[in-house]
Amino acid sequence: MRITDTIKYVGVNDHKVDLFEGQYPVANGMAYNSYVILDEKIAVMDTVDANFTHEWLDNLEQVLDGRKPDYLIVQHMEPDHAANVANFLKVYPDTTVVANVKTFQMIYNFFGLSLEGQKLEVTNGGTLSLGNHQLTFVFAPMVHWPEVMVTYDSTDKVLFSADGFGKFGALDVEEDWDDEARRYFIGIVGKYGTQVQSLLKVAATLDIRIICPLHGPVLSEDLGHYIGLYDTWSSYTPEEEGIVIAYTSVYGHTKKAVDLLADKLRSKGCPKVVVYDLARDDMSLALSDAFRYSKLILATTTYNASIYPFMHDYISRLVEHNFQNRTVGLIENGSWAPLAAKVMREMMAKCKKINWLDTTVKILSAINQDNQDQLEAMADELCKEYIAQNDILANKNDLTALFRIGYGLYVVTSNDGKKDNGLIVNTVIQLTDTPNRVAVNINKANYSHHVIKQTGMLNVNCLSTEAPFSVFQQFGFQTGRSVDKFAGQTVHRSDNGLVFLDKYINAFMSLKVEDYVDLGTHGMFICSVTEARVMSNQDTMTYTYYQNNVKPKPETEGKKGFVCKVCGYIYEGDELPADYICPLCKHGAADFEPIG
Ligand code: FEO
Repeated sequence: MRITDTIKYVGVNDHKVDLFEGQYPVANGMAYNSYVILDEKIAVMDTVDANFTHEWLDNLEQVLDGRKPDYLIVQHMEPDHAANVANFLKVYPDTTVVANVKTFQMIYNFFGLSLEGQKLEVTNGGTLSLGNHQLTFVFAPMVHWPEVMVTYDSTDKVLFSADGFGKFGALDVEEDWDDEARRYFIGIVGKYGTQVQSLLKVAATLDIRIICPLHGPVLSEDLGHYIGLYDTWSSYTPEEEGIVIAYTSVYGHTKKAVDLLADKLRSKGCPKVVVYDLARDDMSLALSDAFRYSKLILATTTYNASIYPFMHDYISRLVEHNFQNRTVGLIENGSWAPLAAKVMREMMAKCKKINWLDTTVKILSAINQDNQDQLEAMADELCKEYIAQNDILANKNDLTALFRIGYGLYVVTSNDGKKDNGLIVNTVIQLTDTPNRVAVNINKANYSHHVIKQTGMLNVNCLSTEAPFSVFQQFGFQTGRSVDKFAGQTVHRSDNGLVFLDKYINAFMSLKVEDYVDLGTHGMFICSVTEARVMSNQDTMTYTYYQNNVKPKPETEGKKGFVCKVCGYIYEGDELPADYICPLCKHGAADFEPIG
C-alpha cells in the first residue's frame, strides 16, 4: 500500500484476535501497522504481532524488491509491534536497529539481544538522514509505555505516531473512526492525558500532512478533527453533553430505578442518555462513554458490605484511567445495611474535579414514593441546563436569574456634617472611562441616601476577601440615623474629608455626584472620580464569596418560615408578606428563601 511515493505500508490485519490486550473486545479485528521508507538508505518502522511473522516478512520482501533494509526503527516495544525484532534480524542481520536507551534495554529483556555493533541509540530530538528523508525522533514517554518515541519525517511531512492516533479494528473493515479510536484511547492511554498533551504541544510545532499510527488507518485528511479529539480526550474535557447511567441490578429493582431515571432525563430535554448494564455490556465501551459525556450516574446494590463486583470493577477502571472533570450522581440499593453510595463515593475520592449531585437516590429493596421523588429531583438537577436551553421546556420568567449577576460588596462612606456614616452596597458600576464615571445605587430607606443627596460626596471602599462578618454587622445591620458606626475609632480621611476604611479593603474611590436618577425605591448616583487609591492585591469581596465563606450559616434547625439570604435573619411564619423588609439588613422579600 502506498502512503507516499517513497513510504509504503507493510502492516497486517488480525481477524483472529477476540480480546486485544486480553481485555478489549475487537469485533472488527485489529491492524498492526508497519511502514518502509525507501531512500538511499531504507528504514523499516516497527514490526508486528507474533502471529503474523511470515505475512509481514512477505509484505516487506515485496516492497524491498530485492534491496536490503539499512535501519529498523523501533518506536514502541509492546509485543503487538515489537514481537518480530529478533525474527527480522535473523532475515536481515546487517540492519542497524535505531532506538532509545530504554528500548534497547527492553529488546535485551524480551530477546536477550545486546545488539553490540548494530545499534544506533538516539536521543530526544535526535535526527537521522536517509538521503532525501530527514527523520527527527521525539520521545513520548507513557504514550503508552515509557520507551515510546514518535518519528517525524520533515521531507514528506509525515508523523509516525506509534500508538497515538490508533484505533481498534482491522483496515479491511469500514467503521467509524471516532468511536473505536475513543474506546482505544481511553482504554490504552487514557490514564496518561498529561503526557499526550505534551506530545500534542510538540506536534503543534510541526507541519504534519500525514499521520501513520501503529494501529488503524493512515490519516491524511481533516487532521484537525483527529488532533482536536486527542486534545479533548487527553485534557479530560467532556466531548459531548449527555448522561451515562452505569448500573448493576440483582433482582431488577435497581434497574427499574435506572429505567425511570432514563425516561425522566429524556423527557426533560437531555440530548443523549446512554445506559450500561455492567454485568452484560462491554465494560470498555461503558468506560469510554463515561469520558465522552459530561455526566455520569452510578447505580448499584450493597453486596458483601461493599458494592456489586461489576460496579467495583467499573469504578476501579474509572479511577485508574484518571476519570475527572464530570458531574456524578449515585443511586444505591440495600435491603438491611445500605452502604453502596458511601463505598462508591469513597472509591472515587481520588478523581479530581468531580461535581457531585446534591441528590442521592437511596432505595431500601424496592422503589417507593420517596425514591420516585428522589429520581425526579435527580433528573431536575441533571437537566437544569438542558431544560433552560429548551425553547418549550424552559421557564422564561425565572427572575432568580438576577441573583446570578456578579456583584462586589462595598462600604460607602459619607458625612452628614456631624458624624461619619457607612453602609454596605452591592451595586457599584463603572459606566465610562473617558471620563471615569461610576454609578452607585442606594436604597432610599437608608440614611446614607439622604446624606449623599444633600452633600453630593461619597467614598466607595472596595471590601477584600479578608473582610470578616463583623464588618457586615457594623455597616449593614444598623442604621446611621441612630448609631455612630465609627464611634471611638481613629479614622483615615481622603482629600474630600470623608472616611476611608483602615483595613479589609483593597482600594477606595472618592466620588463627586454629577447626576441622580430616581428609581422609585432606590436612587442612582452618577459620579465622577476625584481620588482613587489601591491598598492591596487581595481579591474583591463578591456577593457569592460572602455567601459561601463569610456569612455564618443561619440556625434554621427546627424552625419554620423564611431566611434572609443576605444576613441570615429568620422570619418565622407560614407566609412572608410581599412587602416585607428584613429588619437587620433592609433587603426585601425577594432576598428571602423558605427554610427546608
Ligand atoms: Fe499497540 Fe502499546 O501497543
